[in-house]
Amino acid sequence: MRGFPARAAPPLPPLLLLLGLCSGTSFPGNVNIGGLFPTGSHEYEVFRFALSQHQDVSKLVPQVDMVDTGSSFAMTYAFCSQFSKGVYAIMGLYDRRTVNMLMSFCGSLHVCFVTPSFPVQTNNQFVLQLRPQLQEPLMALLEHFFWTRFVYMYSSDSGLTVLQKILDTAAEQSWQVTSVNLDALTEAAFIKLLADLDYKKDFQIIINCELERLNYILNLVKNLKNYHFILANLGFLDLNVTEFQKLAPNVTGFQLVNRTDPAIFAVALDLNLDWILDYTGALTYDGINVMATAFQNLRQQRIDISRRGNAGECLANPPAPWGQGIDIQRALQQVHLEGLTGHVQFDERGHRTNYTLTVMELSHLGPRKIGQWTEKTGYVHTAVYRPLQEEFFGLLNKTYVVTTILEAPYMMLKKNHEQFVGNDKYEGYCAELASEIAKHVGFAYRLELVSDGKYGARDAESKMWNGMVGELVYGKADMAVAPLTITLVREQVIDFTKPFMSLGISIMIKKPTKSKPGVFSFLDPLAYEIWMCIVFAYIGVSVVLFLVSRFSPYEWQGEDSDDEDEDTPEYTNDFGIFNSLWFSLGAFMQQGCDISPRSLSGRIVGGVWWFFTLIIISSYTANLAAFLTVERMVSPIESAEDLAKQTEIAYGTLDGGSTKEFFRRSKIAVFEKMWSYMRSAEPSVFVKSTTDGVIRVRKSKGKYAYLLESSMNEYIEQRKPCDTMKVGGNLDSKGYGVATPKGSPLRNPVNLAVLKLNEQGLLDKLKNRWWYDKGECGTGGGDSKDKTSALSLSNVAGVFYILIGGLGLAMMVALVEFCYKSRIESRRMKVSLTDASNHLATGGGDPGIPACGLGGGLTGENGRVVTHEFPNFGVQGLPCMSKAAGLGMSSTGM
Ligand SMILES: *[C@@H]1O[C@H](CO)[C@@H](O)[C@H](O)[C@H]1NC(C)=O
Ligand SMILES: *[C@@H]1O[C@H](CO)[C@@H](O)[C@H](O)[C@H]1NC(C)=O
Ligand SMILES: *[C@@H]1O[C@H](CO)[C@@H](O)[C@H](O)[C@H]1NC(C)=O
Ligand SMILES: *[C@@H]1O[C@H](CO)[C@@H](O)[C@H](O)[C@H]1NC(C)=O
Ligand SMILES: *[C@@H]1O[C@H](CO)[C@@H](O)[C@H](O)[C@H]1NC(C)=O
Repeated sequence: MRGFPARAAPPLPPLLLLLGLCSGTSFPGNVNIGGLFPTGSHEYEVFRFALSQHQDVSKLVPQVDMVDTGSSFAMTYAFCSQFSKGVYAIMGLYDRRTVNMLMSFCGSLHVCFVTPSFPVQTNNQFVLQLRPQLQEPLMALLEHFFWTRFVYMYSSDSGLTVLQKILDTAAEQSWQVTSVNLDALTEAAFIKLLADLDYKKDFQIIINCELERLNYILNLVKNLKNYHFILANLGFLDLNVTEFQKLAPNVTGFQLVNRTDPAIFAVALDLNLDWILDYTGALTYDGINVMATAFQNLRQQRIDISRRGNAGECLANPPAPWGQGIDIQRALQQVHLEGLTGHVQFDERGHRTNYTLTVMELSHLGPRKIGQWTEKTGYVHTAVYRPLQEEFFGLLNKTYVVTTILEAPYMMLKKNHEQFVGNDKYEGYCAELASEIAKHVGFAYRLELVSDGKYGARDAESKMWNGMVGELVYGKADMAVAPLTITLVREQVIDFTKPFMSLGISIMIKKPTKSKPGVFSFLDPLAYEIWMCIVFAYIGVSVVLFLVSRFSPYEWQGEDSDDEDEDTPEYTNDFGIFNSLWFSLGAFMQQGCDISPRSLSGRIVGGVWWFFTLIIISSYTANLAAFLTVERMVSPIESAEDLAKQTEIAYGTLDGGSTKEFFRRSKIAVFEKMWSYMRSAEPSVFVKSTTDGVIRVRKSKGKYAYLLESSMNEYIEQRKPCDTMKVGGNLDSKGYGVATPKGSPLRNPVNLAVLKLNEQGLLDKLKNRWWYDKGECGTGGGDSKDKTSALSLSNVAGVFYILIGGLGLAMMVALVEFCYKSRIESRRMKVSLTDASNHLATGGGDPGIPACGLGGGLTGENGRVVTHEFPNFGVQGLPCMSKAAGLGMSSTGM
């Protein structure tokens, strides 16, 4: 294994050569493409971009030199260095000083030069000229316009071949031609020349030069009436049209690139340009496509185009042509393709053939196509001139017919309209809008009501449009200013401006009647749970107070009654159950009563209860004022969702309108649900007209909601008897637009006027005027949002917690007091606990310190309790707390 490569090494190169020959091709992996561009030219950018698109398939690799295309030396050097580096073809630009040099190099070395530069008359097949020749189309145009006396201005780059043709023809047909070479002209000289032409009434001018200079020259041509320019240039739309629009329509020119072709936008987008590709860029792009196609064909046909032999001998004498150059030339010349510049095809001299040029002119509304030229058909004029008046609407002395429809508040007859004539009879939003538009655009108009009173729909059978749309379509009106909704089907037959009003479907309901405060409205400031809790708290507090008073020894006091029995003095307790209730009530009512707890536990109960009362009563008082003065208005429906999820209130739309259609088509769950209800509701919820719908809303006592367009809804809300209202947001959104017939010259200016009025805020002002200022219901309405709501339990829950906590604490303290006292007593008496308890219970201790008189207390009356026997306290030494609890329970039954 080790030896084999060593032995095999010597015969390897011949083997490879053999392999190459056997496969019949040594087609290069990468095809080097030369490039000669002036620094910063956009053709170079396009060149790089186009090549990058072909890198993977055709493997075209750029080999570019940036040169001064006017310098013979630089061009020669760059050309030769590229040739010696082995390029297969070169793309580039030349100018009149280097074109001949290039031609002779290409011819003698058989290197193909593909160029978007100006075409030259030559039979050198190795120069492929992407730019179509202009002589023929220009002659055809001159013939069409019957020019016999004109001025030909040219730059010597591109203008000379055409000049030759013109001079030949002029000689034949005895035209009077003045030729002017622009290269030799300064700006001052040019202006003088124009003055000269003016004087001699030479008004017909052909200009033949590159785009930049053309832009420059046309900028110098100012305020010249009567002139007619023909621009002998293929990029009519690449010119800075805005500048010399004022010369319109007397500027005619040629356009090579189809600007409506999506491909051109795609290229400009990929190139990241903010301008659209101009025609030389498009030619460059097509040139690369031609090369890519040609080399792909060669590769497929396995034609050997390898650069072997005398490659690189550029300046050999005699010149040694490249052997395979002719194959490449043939392949390039045979390419047919549809490029950005139309059909790309070359004749045997390397000139474009079978191409189409669009002939354009400026009109007041911008450039437009007036015809086209092809080799086969010559110039075909296709422009259909509208009557002059329409083309020059701005200058036109005509009254435009504006169709409209009576619809409050858009268009209404004035109350005293008999006293007026013409447009003055009408008032309303659209009446003012029309007058504003006319003022901005500058035309006279006459309002006319649509004869059939319809907006415009297409008849299913006759396919005829009716209403205002019909008047526009059939030319009875020039414009429609009305609440006309912009829709797809209408937009297909007429033009709409941007919407002057946006709106959507909205809900109209009857205004809920204001609820008068009821008899028990004093209860309203607090929620019902609070009232309930207060009652329970009251009872609870009273019971606890009662209990702790029972337990707490400090609450008992000896009766100073004259008792016979010394051993059993009577002890009384103020806080029996009724007194407890009375004490709590007195505190709650802020009145107090003449008994009050003396024990710590009882005072805790009293304290928290007073605190509770303080907070509750203050809250109640604070809320009460608001409740008794505000008349509240509660709307049962706030949104479409509310409507959809209830069944009590019926709702519907206009029968056979766009609103109904909206619900029928909607895929949104809520609207689908509403539609399924509306469709099946009995009786029908659909109404014949908007007025019917409004009447139904007013008459159904809030049991019917009507769905209609928001602008109308808002308007009706402001109309007497002011008993409807719009609730919720809009369900969809659409717009009203001013309409003009398709292609009307009014369209652009009217559109601009509408936008301007909108930006000036005039549309809002109009809306306010016709909706609210003229409203009959006053401002504000009833929808003030300051609805006072009842205090809810959570607002005051804390007070209850404090109350409960305080009560618990009081009971604990009472027990502790009790036990503490029992222990003290037992120590003092030095008797057993049981005895002490017994003693306590029988009043043996301090006066006023009875022990657990629970059982007796419950059966006693009115706080004045006499306890006789205290039941057994249980086992000695046991914690009294647990015993006490047990005790309480058991003693109850005694
Ligand atoms: C347009 O050119 C024609 C002659 O070709 C001339 O009669 C006419 O006045 C020119 N129109 C304008 C608006 O300059
Ligand atoms: C067109 O001309 C105007 C005024 O001369 C200039 O402001 C504008 O930039 C030019 N537009 C282009 C695309 O050259
Ligand atoms: C330009 O391209 C569009 C879209 O591809 C096509 O409809 C239109 O006919 C073309 N116009 C010309 C003059 O070729
Ligand atoms: C001219 O171009 C069309 C396509 O635009 C092509 O169908 C036709 O064959 C071409 N004519 C000639 C003579 O090549
Ligand atoms: C417009 O027409 C009226 C009468 O029809 C005429 O008095 C007026 O001079 C005309 N204005 C222009 C600018 O032609």
